[in-house]
Amino acid sequence: MKFDKLKFSIKTYGCQMNELDTEIMAGTLKNMGFSEALGYDDADIVVLNTCAVRHRAEEKIFGHIGALKRYKEKKSGMILVIAGCLAQQKKDEIFKLFPHIDIIIGTLTKKELQPLIEKILHKRKSQIRIISEQKEVYEPDYIERESKIKASVSIMEGCNNFCSYCIVPYVRGREISRRKENIIKEINNLAENGYNEILLLGQNVNSYIDNSYDFADLIESINDIAGIERIRFMTSHPKDISNKLIEKISTSKKACEHFHFPLQSGSDKILDKMNRKYTLNEYINKVEYIRKLIPGVSITTDIIVGFPDEDENDFQDTVKAVENIKFDGVFIFYYSPRQGTHAASFDDNVTYAEKIRRLEYLLRTQEKIMVNINTGLIDQKFEVLVEGRSKKDEEQLTGRTRTNKIVIFSKKENMQNKDLAGQFINIKITNIGAYTLLGEISE
Ligand code: 5AD
Ligand code: SF4
Repeated sequence: MKFDKLKFSIKTYGCQMNELDTEIMAGTLKNMGFSEALGYDDADIVVLNTCAVRHRAEEKIFGHIGALKRYKEKKSGMILVIAGCLAQQKKDEIFKLFPHIDIIIGTLTKKELQPLIEKILHKRKSQIRIISEQKEVYEPDYIERESKIKASVSIMEGCNNFCSYCIVPYVRGREISRRKENIIKEINNLAENGYNEILLLGQNVNSYIDNSYDFADLIESINDIAGIERIRFMTSHPKDISNKLIEKISTSKKACEHFHFPLQSGSDKILDKMNRKYTLNEYINKVEYIRKLIPGVSITTDIIVGFPDEDENDFQDTVKAVENIKFDGVFIFYYSPRQGTHAASFDDNVTYAEKIRRLEYLLRTQEKIMVNINTGLIDQKFEVLVEGRSKKDEEQLTGRTRTNKIVIFSKKENMQNKDLAGQFINIKITNIGAYTLLGEISE
């Protein structure tokens, strides 16, 4: 078999962190001389980059791992790799249930992908490679990026917060910040390659620290990198976002006016059981300070409904909080126990039907709020970074405002032959929906 003729396919589940890990693994495989396959039928190496954050993801992934057997039976020598959070958490179970899997690597052993594939190609012996702690963030040689316009840059990995429902600290280890020189070098490189926007990624970006150099210092350094016009960051934890930090971000020209700022619940009783370390009031104070200093800022959040012991009053507290705060977007999840977390020992006493009712009720409440907020944007002009054609309508273009709102618009007659992707364009909003803005190019 000629190894450099091999083709790979990667399927990603879960969050932006996983999407970046996929780009890192794709970079490794390309560097090894492999090329991207059109689909599983065409692939010699299949990687599933898995997520363990909620039960539904896990169920889907287990189904998918089972289905891979059929592809391997059709093509002997196919290499199957399970990577990511579920691999980290359930390595033994996966190997036992699915003997057709060749390699399991965890979230902290991405650099093992190359040596393990080489081993399999030569010896064909299945391998698990997992560690639970790392001393330094892995610095890959090459990242195969999806986009030519915006890039995610990991600034820290892991989490120390241990929110009682969350699996992340168990599958991604303790917080560890990346060295500032490496971050700056990577962003300089991205700028030289024409990237306009970067997204600084970490479970808790605001607690980034390299000796005494902190998140505010990092934003300041990136501000000076020519070519990078927009700095995004996620996720912000309410306990780490100090007033001083908000002040620093508000004066940074390039830091975008958007915070992803998970509230999780509007009930202090539930926040305490979730081990979130803040009250609703403290959260609201931060939101007010952010809004005071950064006019027009958009704030999005995550909410979990149906957490153990969440009664109707607690749920109504969440509804009221969502109505009062008026988020620009809310990701709503229903609680599912994750094995090994503290909350898994609580009685999961909200029925499935009730969890779904609360989720749908909150979703409808939030949709009305977004329609209201977006209606207020009609006739306003926004700078939009054009990303490319709209998925829904090939004739239309799509891009985002600095506040991370999606805008759909058409090219002008005299622009038909121009590729606008990667350009900043002023758009006047003409119509809206809950999730998107429609607009036209303004002079
Ligand atoms: N059940 C439901 N939602 C969860 N999240 C994390 N863990 C769970 C769980 N066990 C949600 C949180 C988090 C988002 C990424 O996923 O809202 O912010
Ligand atoms: Fe999970 Fe909480 Fe850490 Fe976010 S802050 S990754 S919810 S433990």
